[in-house]
Amino acid sequence: MSITRREFTKALARTTAAGISLTILGQFGCEDEPTSTSKRRKVKANLATEPFTIGPISQFDKPGVYDQYKQSHGVWIVRDNGYTDGNTDSNIDSNTNANGPTLVALSATCTHVGCSVDWDLDIDQFQCPCHESGFTRQGINMPDARASRPLERCTIQRILAADSPDADATGHVIQIDPTVRFRHDKNEWDNPASMLHL
Ligand code: FES
Repeated sequence: MSITRREFTKALARTTAAGISLTILGQFGCEDEPTSTSKRRKVKANLATEPFTIGPISQFDKPGVYDQYKQSHGVWIVRDNGYTDGNTDSNIDSNTNANGPTLVALSATCTHVGCSVDWDLDIDQFQCPCHESGFTRQGINMPDARASRPLERCTIQRILAADSPDADATGHVIQIDPTVRFRHDKNEWDNPASMLHL
């Protein structure tokens, strides 16, 4: 089949354009990036950049995952009655667990490439909307997750704030510091500031 000079020129232009597009994707694309600009914006984690208080311990009187500070500060608050690193059973009898009841502030930032993880009560896991990594309630990445390490813990402590309207009867509130975080893979979850004993 023969083609005219004009048809040949057009075909050449199309081929060149496609080649340039592929080159650009090859240079700047990454399969680990969120799939679109709009999705990236929607799920971008927004971890707070300075310490903030979350009121008295009595606000977190039941075991569970509390979402009040996820949108505003990028942190999930998790209360457990018993707690062992990596243990996925969140209802461990506190009498048989050395740590007893605890409160932890987990960064909502996925450790894969930084999207914001959501809590899925139905499967009792944090789920990342970008590449579907799952994390246990304690923040441990699931074996098949693309995230290769657990979520990070933020510093959590009781501080004296007698003038605060949120202070408890002893004048204390809970303070979270997301600028100082603890990594499980570096054995930093042993640090007392990574967990509040109740
Ligand atoms: S950012 Fe990729 S799984 Fe979370």
